[in-house]
Order: sequence, then structure tokens, then C-alpha cells
Amino acid sequence: MVVSLKVPFIDLTAQYPQVKSKIWTALQDIFESQQFVLKKYGAGLEEAVMKDLPAKYAVGLNSGTDALLLSLMAAGIGRGHEVITTPFTFFATAASVVRVGAVPVFVDVEPGTYNIDWRKIEAKITAKTKAIIPVHLFGLMCDMKPILEIAKRHSLIVIEDIAQAYGASYNGHRAGSMGDIACLSFFPTKNLGGAGDGGMVATNSQELYKKIKVLRVHGAKENEKYLHEVVGINSRLDEIQAAVVHAKLPFLDAWNKKRMFHAAVYNEAFIDLPLESPVSPKGHEHIFHLYTLRSKKRDALMHALAENGVGAGIYYPLPLHLQPCFRELGYHKGDLPTAEMLADEVLSLPMYAELTDDQIGFVIESVRNFF
Ligand SMILES: Cc1ncc(COP(=O)(O)O)c(C=O)c1O
Repeated sequence: MVVSLKVPFIDLTAQYPQVKSKIWTALQDIFESQQFVLKKYGAGLEEAVMKDLPAKYAVGLNSGTDALLLSLMAAGIGRGHEVITTPFTFFATAASVVRVGAVPVFVDVEPGTYNIDWRKIEAKITAKTKAIIPVHLFGLMCDMKPILEIAKRHSLIVIEDIAQAYGASYNGHRAGSMGDIACLSFFPTKNLGGAGDGGMVATNSQELYKKIKVLRVHGAKENEKYLHEVVGINSRLDEIQAAVVHAKLPFLDAWNKKRMFHAAVYNEAFIDLPLESPVSPKGHEHIFHLYTLRSKKRDALMHALAENGVGAGIYYPLPLHLQPCFRELGYHKGDLPTAEMLADEVLSLPMYAELTDDQIGFVIESVRNFF
């Protein structure tokens, strides 16, 4: 007998009590001091991420989108350049490439991991190629070893988009610690989310670090305030976001472990169903920012789940090479068949650390009843 239970796709109110007192202590301090931008909480978060990732340098920014944009700018990428990335990601990854005047070159993804297929990268490299942006989608790192080898062979910079994968690992290396620079997002629904927009870059390159520090404050020199040798943007991380994210960081590994545990329960429960569960290849720690399965009956399944009060979402319904705004890049339906197949078949189920056994049981029962 199914007991009806609403299961939201994500429920941040279930997380909040764990960090509430720490956040309010910090907020009180911030408001008492009236120090809102680029002060001790921002610096504290940068320190904590440097230690945690690990990386030699980190710069707090306004968003993950700005992290990508400023990484590209700092690497000198712009008009006349090409950047290789995945068509199956959030829009911001490729949009940032277009924003700096460069051309995103889309390489199809693997059907199991949903990540960029490294075997197809080299065929797309030209004299104009300057960088690869591997996106560790849904919490699973890309196969970084061959990607780094290709990048080295062709002198390309590797910008890791770890917006969905902070805390994931690959052969013992944490996401963001393998490429030249890592882009983090603190959007509230991310595994490590703030109370609004926020982001960060982390790198071992002193040169990239110094450039991004200047670029985030309109290109102003650190010690000569109103002198601009380059044109940057305003992308300062505010103290409130920094304090909220910092309060959550010590919990992140435990929260990610819970997501992995929930994913294993889903996987086991769906083993005999005609659907493809998400995979975690050997050597990977998938931190399940999203639990995304594949089904030929995706739309009907989503409808049935909604009828039962189970939140589910499609990430992403249209691959980037087919987005209307990228029409002039010249891609057509059929060019990147795996990404297109995924867009038709993927469905993400409720996933957050605080899901209860009853909630997971209800999601499983709803999926099983559908099939
Ligand atoms: C893969 C990916 N890249 C980049 C971003 C951009 O991050 P933000 O929303 O913080 O600008 C996001 C998040 O939305 C994302 O999921």
C-alpha cells in the first residue's frame, strides 16, 4: 500500500537547521561591522577553499558564470580563438566562451557518464584552439587523465567547470585540482550553495590568480585604486554569501556521502527496470549533485511522478549546439547524437543529503509502479 508523500526535487529547508546558528552569528557580525564586500569572510572562504581543494590561490567572485568568464579573459582567450567543451551542460559554460568573443567547439559526450568524450576531442583541435573546458556534470568528474594528456600535447589550457562537482574525485584527485584553473558556483541549489549568487576560481597559477584578482574589480590595480590598465568587470563576492558558504563547507563531505548513499539505494532498487541508472566508473567518487537516469519513456515517467507528488526535472532538454542563439555556429540536429539522445531521455530524481528513507522509498515505489 503506497502512502502518499510529497517529495520535493530539492529541499534546502531540511539543510538549514544544521548551519543556522553559525550563519546567524556571522550575519550579525557582518551587519554590526557594516563591512559587506571583500572583507574577512571573503578572504576566509578563499583560504578554506585553497586548503580544501587544494589549490595555491582562490578568488571569490559573483557567480560561477563570472568564474568561467574571468578564467577565459585571464588566459587571453578572445576573438579568433576556439574553446572545446561539451554540448550537454548548463548554458553558462558555452555562453562565457561566446562572451569573450571566442567560438565554442562542441564535442559529443559519453552515453554512460554524460561527460565529454575525450576520444573525440583531438579531431576538433585546430590552430585556433586555445582551451578545453571539461564540465564535471551532475557530480561526476570527466576522465581527466586523457584530457590532460591531449591538452599537454596541443598546449591547451584546461579550465575545469566544477560548478556541479565540488568534492567529487577521480583517482584520488579532487575536482578542480587537476586542470589549470577551476570554476566554482555557489548558486543555492549547488552541493555547496550560498544564499544567492556567488562563485570562485581556484588555481595553482600565480599569473592567472593575479590577473583575475584585478579583473574582478574592473581591472583596477590593487594598490592604485583608480588606475586601470585593463578593462575587467564587477565580480566581487559579497560577505554574506562568503559567510553562508563558509558555514556549510565543513559539512560538505558528509552531505556528499549521503547523496552517494541515496544514489546507491536508487540504483539497487531500479536494477531490474528498463531504464539506465547513472554510472560511477572505477576510480571516481560521484557526488550526485543530480541523480539522473535515462528512459525511453522519460516524459510519461516524469508525468506519473508529478501526479504522485514526486519532483523530477530535465537537465537538459536541449543540447547547447541546438540552442537558437548559437545558430550561427552552424550545427544541425544529428551532429552530436549522444547529447541529443540524452536531452530526450534524461530525468533527474529528488536528490539531497536530507532525503529520508520514507521519501526515498516513495520515489522508488512511484518509479517501480510506473514501469
Ligand atoms: C555546469 C555549470 N557551469 C556553470 C554554472 C554557472 O554558475 P552560476 O549559476 O553560479 O553562474 C552552472 C550553474 O548554474 C553550472 O551548473
